[in-house]
Amino acid sequence: MSKYAIIGGTGLTQLEGLTIRDALFIDTPYGPTSADILRGEYAGQEVLFLARHGHPHRIPPHQVNYRANLWALRHAGAHSILAINAVGGVTANMPTGHFCIPDQIIDYTSGRQHTLYDGDLDHVTHVDFSYPYDEALRRRLIAAVAACGYNCTNQGVYGCTQGPRLETAAEIVRMERDGCNIVGMTGMPETVLARELGLSYACLSLVVNPAAGKSSGVITMTQIEAALNDGMAKVKVILARMLKQA
Ligand code: HPA
Repeated sequence: MSKYAIIGGTGLTQLEGLTIRDALFIDTPYGPTSADILRGEYAGQEVLFLARHGHPHRIPPHQVNYRANLWALRHAGAHSILAINAVGGVTANMPTGHFCIPDQIIDYTSGRQHTLYDGDLDHVTHVDFSYPYDEALRRRLIAAVAACGYNCTNQGVYGCTQGPRLETAAEIVRMERDGCNIVGMTGMPETVLARELGLSYACLSLVVNPAAGKSSGVITMTQIEAALNDGMAKVKVILARMLKQA
């Protein structure tokens, strides 16, 4: 049984170094996953890998079928999910190139299919979500990043916006007042669906731009792509370190 599943986000639609054994097409009650789930070996561990936005990258954050993705990963045998996300830096301690392993999340999305407890159920279920990330998994990720020597903040609040547009400067001011440190578009409902499915889940966020209004200019794809190239190479090193420790 595969222990770890990696969900690769923007800039990580494939995991070089993964020795692929199978590409699993899994039929889910919620429709298709973003891509086939790849099962193989990475850093000596059996892992599952799923490209959140498809491979090639074609599914925008608000159209990702999060329910199918999480359901299928569990069906394929995952019990721990390592989610990789590119984010904007909201607070001054989150410069471009920095890593953050958030310990909290605020959901600003709307209209997404955000629960598996829907439809004809014989009882109403409210999962506890006080602490959205799995602390033991977070600790292992923190140890791996530290061992690699990369700059990382080991806690923070991830604010998840609807996208696909980026935020206004005023929205970022509000999010900072709310306590957000980083902003992204894919943390929710992925994080809560993992909880509903009983999967442990932690997130490794890479800051790829200053959030709206936090630099002198506007946000460009060129700047984001440069940060992604550099940062995702480090993400692969971190994942290898983490899996070797497992
Ligand atoms: N906002 C939202 N999502 C993002 C950003 C951002 O600035 N950068 C990368 N993902």
